[in-house]
Formats: sequence, structure tokens, C-alpha cells
Amino acid sequence: MKKIGIILNGVTGRMGTNQHLERSIHAIIQQGGVTLADGSRVMPDPILTGRNQDKLARLAAKYGIERFTTDLDAALADARNEIFFDASGTPHRIGFLERGIAAGKHIYCEKPTATVYKDALSIAEVAEKAGVKNGTVQDKLWLPGIRKFQLLKEQGFFGEILSVRGEFGYWVFTGLHEGQPIQRPSWNYRTEDGGGMIVDMHCHWRYLIDNLFGKVTRVFCKAATHIAQRVDEAGKRYKCTADDSAYAIFETDTNVICQFNSSWNVRVRRDDLLTMQVDGTEGSAIVGLRKCWAQHQSVTPRPVWNPDIDSPIDYYDNWTEVPDQVDFDNAFKTQWEIFIRHVVADDPFPWTLREGAKGVELAELSLRSSDHGRWMDVPQ
Ligand SMILES: NC(=O)c1ccc[n+]([C@@H]2O[C@H](COP(=O)([O-])OP(=O)(O)OC[C@H]3O[C@@H](n4cnc5c(N)ncnc54)[C@H](O)[C@@H]3O)[C@@H](O)[C@H]2O)c1
Repeated sequence: MKKIGIILNGVTGRMGTNQHLERSIHAIIQQGGVTLADGSRVMPDPILTGRNQDKLARLAAKYGIERFTTDLDAALADARNEIFFDASGTPHRIGFLERGIAAGKHIYCEKPTATVYKDALSIAEVAEKAGVKNGTVQDKLWLPGIRKFQLLKEQGFFGEILSVRGEFGYWVFTGLHEGQPIQRPSWNYRTEDGGGMIVDMHCHWRYLIDNLFGKVTRVFCKAATHIAQRVDEAGKRYKCTADDSAYAIFETDTNVICQFNSSWNVRVRRDDLLTMQVDGTEGSAIVGLRKCWAQHQSVTPRPVWNPDIDSPIDYYDNWTEVPDQVDFDNAFKTQWEIFIRHVVADDPFPWTLREGAKGVELAELSLRSSDHGRWMDVPQ
């Protein structure tokens, strides 16, 4: 069976370990590799790279991986390794990708691909000029909830889609209350370390809207840092320099209006940590990460405004859950398999570094909109 060497850089981090090593590469190895269109199989042969030898050794032992090193240059010099993948902290991404491209590797990486658009676009161009295949993680496209929504949409369930209301976020503990430790890395709340709600999540909203609803043409956004101080991993207080919430409206070339609230300072009373309510002339849906509920025009209740009585309608009635009709694999793993087929068999892979750069572009325009208090056009 053909083997493909894959450098997994920044693999000791949260995403690197959980999504990319355990649930993607390790899971692909366990299932016997990736099947190509001609029925043959390709087996990933990962090498774990990072700065801490002990952490790498522990991870390698846990997942039964033979190759790991702190010497990235040596891994890059080894012709066996055809793919360079990066899930390190965002500020380090460009430097690592440049090294991977210079070594002639095909490039795959986490989002955001950079903290500023200029760099994100430039690295896409460098990769294209070098002729290496390249891709960016756009995992949400393969979530079961989103795929169920796509099924409804393709079958014409919605009629004309009018608007989308996205609610994303949950309460991230500040660490300031005894017994309630933080549950996300502290760098996320410091701009100087690549943090910020907008640079983090507007990348996702860009590819979701572009792929599901229409190309984003304009944005209006208000960013906020609601919580000024948090406690870091070492138990020390630090100043939050990055936005922790964003309130945004996106216009599209299909006239579907998309609003997304994103916040680390909200307590959840909705169906999931991300929900999108999609309303169309013939039907609506609530799209969660794994589930999707639909209400057709024919069963839409008829509310009458009367605040003097308890509502006679339970608004959670008359929604039907879209059943699982196929087995849904992990979203990151699904995209990994497509990327490996792209590298080995030239299958299409449209989620390139150039597409990833569009997410960084939207984040940058959103921040500018917030600074200036006005709508920003998104170049087409
Ligand atoms: N696709 C998604 O849904 C999603 C979700 C969360 C995070 N992310 C992205 O994944 C990336 C990592 O986020 P995370 O939450 O795993 O963070 P993390 O802090 O847990 O991991 C970062 C990793 O990078 C490593 N690192 C930092 N500096 C390095 C350097 N100079 N050289 C080598 N390694 C270095 C750290 O040791 C750590 O292993 C970020 O870019 C983030 O935006 C994507």
C-alpha cells in the first residue's frame, strides 16, 4: 500500500492533538487508510513535530506513531514527507508555511491562515507560484447539521431563502471565580498572540456564508471586549486586548441577509453552541452542529400578539428533526481524506489557501467596520 509522509506541526496543541491527530490521522490509520477512486488505498505515515521532545514522545506513544522530532528542518528535508500540516498558534503560521513551501511540500493548515489579510493572500500566492497543492481547514462544512441543511436546500425545501440568524458562543470562564477554571487557551483573548473573536470566527462565517447562502458582498460589525481581565494558565491575571464578542450583519450577492452574533460571554439557552436559523418563503430550519430541525410553510403556526396571556402556542412544536440518513464521520477527518486524495490522485480540493485568505479578509474588514462605525464592501 502506498504510504504518504505527513508532517504534523503544532500537534501538541488542543486542535492538533484532538481533531487532527486523534480523530483524523490516527482514525484514518485505524480504518486502514484512505480509499482512492480506483479502489487502491493510501496510508498516512505521520511525523509529529514541535518544540517539546517529551510531549511529542508521549503523544507518539499514545497513538502508536513511530516518527517524532523537534528538528523540523530535518523532517522537511526528508523526501518521504510530502505534506506539511500546521496547527500551531496563529502568529507562527506564516513562518511555518513559508518553510514548508520552500521545502516543496504540499501545504495544509488550520485557520486563520494569518492574522492580517496581506499575509494570508501573500502566502497563498507563494504556494501557487511554487506549484504546491494547498488547503485550509474549513471543517464546519462537513458537520452533520450543516450537511442536513444542504440536503433540505438542494431539495428546494426553503423556497427562496430570505435571511440567516447565527448565534455562536458560550460562557468561557474568566478564571476569576474560585472553583471555575478557564476552559479555553488564554492567547485567544490577547491580540498580540493572534487572539480575538473576529479573527477566529469570521473566517468560519466567510466560508459558511459563501458556500451555503451567497458570496459575502458587505459587512457591518460591532466588536466588543466585554470582559477586561481574565486569568491565564499559570493563574495570573492578564489584560484582555482582543475582542471577545462580535455583532455582525453580512450582505450577499443572493440578497440573503446573514446576521451572526459571536460571543464568549453568553450563557446558552438554545439548541446548540452554534445555531443558524434559516428562514425561507416555503420553510425554515434551525441548523445546529449535529442536528437540524425544519418547519414547513404548511405547518407554520399562526401567532397573534397578546402579551396579556401565556402563549397558547409552544413555539418548539411543529419542528421536525431531519434524521441521520448516512453515517457522518468527523468533519476534520472528512476534509483530511479529501485533501489526501487531492495530493495523491489529483481529486479536486477547492478549499485552498486563497479561499482561506478570504476568511482573514472578512475578519479584517469586520474590525475596520467596527473601528469606523460603517459598512465595508467586500471586494469580489
Ligand atoms: N478549525 C477550528 O474550528 C479551530 C478551532 C480552534 C482553534 N483553531 C486554530 O488552531 C490553531 C491552534 O489553536 P489551539 O486552540 O489548538 O491552540 P493551542 O494553544 O492549544 O495550541 C497551539 C500549539 O502551537 C504550539 N506552538 C506555539 N508556538 C509554537 C512555535 N513557535 N513552534 C512550534 N509550535 C508552537 C503550541 O505548543 C501548541 O502545541 C489556531 O490557529 C486556532 O485559530 C481552529
